[in-house]
Amino acid sequence: MPTLTTKFHSHTFENPFMNASGVHCMSIQDIDGLAHSAAGSFVTKSATKAARAGNPEPRYLNLDFGSINSMGLPNNGLDYYLDDAIRRQQAAPDKAFVLSVASYEGFHEYVENMRTIQNSDYNGLVELNLSCPNVPGKPQMAYDFEDTHRLLSEITAFYTKPFGVKLPPYFDLLHFDQMAKILNQFPIKFINSINSIGNGLYIDAKTDTVVIKPKAGFGGIGGEYVKPTALANVRAFYTRLRDDIQIIGTGGILNGQDAYEHLLCGATMLQIGTQLEKEGLAVFDRIQKELLEIMTEKGYQSIDEFRGKLKAID
Ligand code: DHB
Repeated sequence: MPTLTTKFHSHTFENPFMNASGVHCMSIQDIDGLAHSAAGSFVTKSATKAARAGNPEPRYLNLDFGSINSMGLPNNGLDYYLDDAIRRQQAAPDKAFVLSVASYEGFHEYVENMRTIQNSDYNGLVELNLSCPNVPGKPQMAYDFEDTHRLLSEITAFYTKPFGVKLPPYFDLLHFDQMAKILNQFPIKFINSINSIGNGLYIDAKTDTVVIKPKAGFGGIGGEYVKPTALANVRAFYTRLRDDIQIIGTGGILNGQDAYEHLLCGATMLQIGTQLEKEGLAVFDRIQKELLEIMTEKGYQSIDEFRGKLKAID
């Protein structure tokens, strides 16, 4: 029987699967559900300094081939997730997870939130979310290359704990080059690629209306629609980033084959958003069985034997 055991930063997980931030991770109860599920690890809802109610509803819809959302960062505030993270870390030091941090106000709130974590007893993994597409009037940080460089410079001047960044999808080879060049200058431990494809539009064919209320119906697209873009981003960064920067592959993982393809492109951990929302926690058991079947068929004993080994046509 092959193993799904995965080393990520200084941690070893039973398998690479996690939730994607935003799904099943808003409350301590949600997080407990993940902690007790078959997932190898989990990430918490992106936290802002203050608790937020988020955008008006309806703000999430499952679609035949994915999902659309404009949640608007509803969350219980950084202290809520940080206090819970410290408790979990003290109760089970060997069960690592990821604390996700965002910003509603922009640049200075990112810095302030990271300072709060630096000054806390939490010393686990942090994901700095540079890619929320759903705050009216606020751009996605990681589409501004100069600001991203400036932000990472400011944060790494004081932040000494392990962290990575959640990126939006890029669609141009030059942008992969430019962002990789920036990230390679900083002591980040991982990237998470991709966030949703921002500001898509879905129309209800019967009523000729948009399907979510915020931002005139524009929202982040996830699920089956985004897999080719997600694989391209994982692959593009795997071939451009320093060897010590690991990749969390997120986007369009519905089954074992999707997971296998993300690993082939170079991902180490794998996050499931839309399909977890649709299927619930049972997805983690199913997808592990499917991935193990593929590995058995191909004769692999461990993920390390095929990670990153996507073949080109000569
Ligand atoms: C939200 C959506 C995102 O894609 C994200 O990265 C953070 C927050 C949201 O709308 O709540």
